Amino acid sequence: MKRNTEVIHAQQTLDPVTGSHVSPLYQTSTYILPNYDEAVRLNQNIDQGFVYSRFGNPTVDEFEKKIAHLEKAEAALGTGSGLGAISTAVMSLVKAGDHIIFGDVIYGCSFALFTKILPNFGVDYTIVDTTDVNAVREAIKTNTTVIYVETPANPVLKITDIEAIAGIKQDHPNIHLVVDSTFASPYLQNPLVHGADLVVHSATKYLNGHGTVTAGVIAGSKKLIDRCRMPFMQCFGAVLDPFAAWTIMQGMKTLGVRMERHCENAIKVAEYLEKHPMVEKVYYPGLGNHPSHETAKKQMKGFGGMMSFNIKGGLESAKTVLNNVQIFSLATSLGNVDSLIQHSPSMSHFDMTEEEREAVEIYDGQVRLSVGIEDVEDLIADLDQALGKL
Ligand SMILES: Cc1ncc(COP(=O)(O)O)c(C=O)c1O
Repeated sequence: MKRNTEVIHAQQTLDPVTGSHVSPLYQTSTYILPNYDEAVRLNQNIDQGFVYSRFGNPTVDEFEKKIAHLEKAEAALGTGSGLGAISTAVMSLVKAGDHIIFGDVIYGCSFALFTKILPNFGVDYTIVDTTDVNAVREAIKTNTTVIYVETPANPVLKITDIEAIAGIKQDHPNIHLVVDSTFASPYLQNPLVHGADLVVHSATKYLNGHGTVTAGVIAGSKKLIDRCRMPFMQCFGAVLDPFAAWTIMQGMKTLGVRMERHCENAIKVAEYLEKHPMVEKVYYPGLGNHPSHETAKKQMKGFGGMMSFNIKGGLESAKTVLNNVQIFSLATSLGNVDSLIQHSPSMSHFDMTEEEREAVEIYDGQVRLSVGIEDVEDLIADLDQALGKL
């Protein structure tokens, strides 16, 4: 199957009872077990089957199989949010005394997980520019067990060469590479193919596409995913609700057409912004002057719908634009069919200090766009009138 057929048909479960065309929603927390002996075998994982929805649910299972298929993974695990996926994946790979390397541009709450939570459990970290493979190599310690990369990275769209970083693992077999591929979606990028061990997504974003649920997913080898499920998901409990899984699967039917339109619109918006006299810099990997344009071209099938730009006049100018857009909504998520705008320094990345932000070009006068699938002329006209207020 080709990509657009795949996103619609892959791993679709047919309902043998009613023939329902759309997969049924199993909105249940528990399952009636046939008898004592079988109940014990199912509960103790000796036999495969559904026991309790924190351990597995048929609707969530269908979603997981679909993601595994699209990510070219052996298995996947749905989670209650993107952070549920990131924390479960990373916690399953570290123990007290270990060391993590992570990229200097990542989503603010992921940054907080590594800098504020994991150190309390004895997990040390080093922050590195992961576009510099030598810098990553040099940061490796004898106790490094995880390299964590977000690509494209939120909010300044840094692109890390996944294959190059995965290459480091040849000399360090204890290290696992975890990639947050939320900005790309499985339609535009498959990190496992480039050598990552686990890929994580906030399914709240492009996978769902309509801003109706919070959800996440981890995909990788059966061995690593089994470990994420038991005991980590079993005990941390960041489970994906069946209704959310079902809702995402409806959204995923249009993932291909949505992603293609996001990409088409975003490049036009980026080119418009680049020429605007009040715009200092545009961060979009589809632009030829983006420092990792070639890497993006190599590992992605399109450049996505996310971008940031710096506005002359700093925070006051950013506020003017944020307060005057009419089609873009001022909202802190991304990946929806409709366009969103936000202020990264004070919203998605408020967990970083001003120095930490400025070191990676997250400036006060910067806004981030999630370019939707509306008519691009309307999006450009909206930005034009908002920038015109400056
Ligand atoms: C790149 C990236 N990863 C993960 C997350 C967290 O996802 P969630 O809000 O679903 O927990 C976000 C949220 O914005 C994000 O931008």
